[in-house]
Amino acid sequence: MSLHLSGRRARFAAAIALAALSLTACGGSSGSNGSSGSGTTATNESGGTLVKDGTLTTCTHLPYAPFQFEEGGKTVGFDVDLIDLVAKELGVTQAIVDTPFEGIKSGQDLNTGKCDIAAAGMTITDERKQVIDFSKPYFDATQAMLVKKGAGYTSLADLAGKTVGVQSGTTGKDYVDANKPGGVKVVEFEDLATEQQGLATGQVDAAVNDLPVWLDYIKKNPGKFEVAAEFDTGEQYGFGIKKGGNPELLATVNQVLDKAKSDGTYDTLYQKWFGQKPSS
Ligand code: ARG
Repeated sequence: MSLHLSGRRARFAAAIALAALSLTACGGSSGSNGSSGSGTTATNESGGTLVKDGTLTTCTHLPYAPFQFEEGGKTVGFDVDLIDLVAKELGVTQAIVDTPFEGIKSGQDLNTGKCDIAAAGMTITDERKQVIDFSKPYFDATQAMLVKKGAGYTSLADLAGKTVGVQSGTTGKDYVDANKPGGVKVVEFEDLATEQQGLATGQVDAAVNDLPVWLDYIKKNPGKFEVAAEFDTGEQYGFGIKKGGNPELLATVNQVLDKAKSDGTYDTLYQKWFGQKPSS
């Protein structure tokens, strides 16, 4: 509906409006909404402006089971389910974009409008906070070193003269770079699947990544691998939103997380994807 009328139609509209005003004059504030809400079609009630109307577009980097991975032609996982709750709250549907982790954690994908939100098992770090607005933490994680069962390594120090795999752009890579003793060769993999493959095929002797993805991998490949060491990095995952770009969406995500935690939905999803209730 256009508010720009001219000539007779404008006068007619004005007369109608006046009549409406006089009708509602004694009815309190009920008539005050109609004149102010023009030009807001692309804006969702609490989602701010979305990059694609009717859609909550999520950037992630596949695979990262059980947070996000392909199954039966669909992207599923713990993060996917949590963001579906946000989409539901906004009355839109989630669409997932698979894109390298570097562009996610640098804030670039959010800045260029590739997506509204990043959900990628992404650790909140001080460095990333400079370039991304993070939701409240929704998951606790640590780093861990995976080896083939019976390999006999129990620490990074045991890997002198050996090779360790890491995933590009991740906190696991940062941890290994900062803590590896001399003589350990680091091999970088672009994603989790190639890192897993690198270990399975013996290209690397050990692999470092977040503990929950290793536990999921062990469950799906029983008897083959074991966690040789855990590094208590005290990480927490957050969902990312364009820095300063969508405070409404950020607030909605936090509300949805609060509600999911208080009404039991969070625990149900945790149980679904991790096979146990959260410990805290
Ligand atoms: N938690 C780690 C980090 O933030 C790894 C995340 C990798 N996520 C992914 N979907 N590939 O650096």
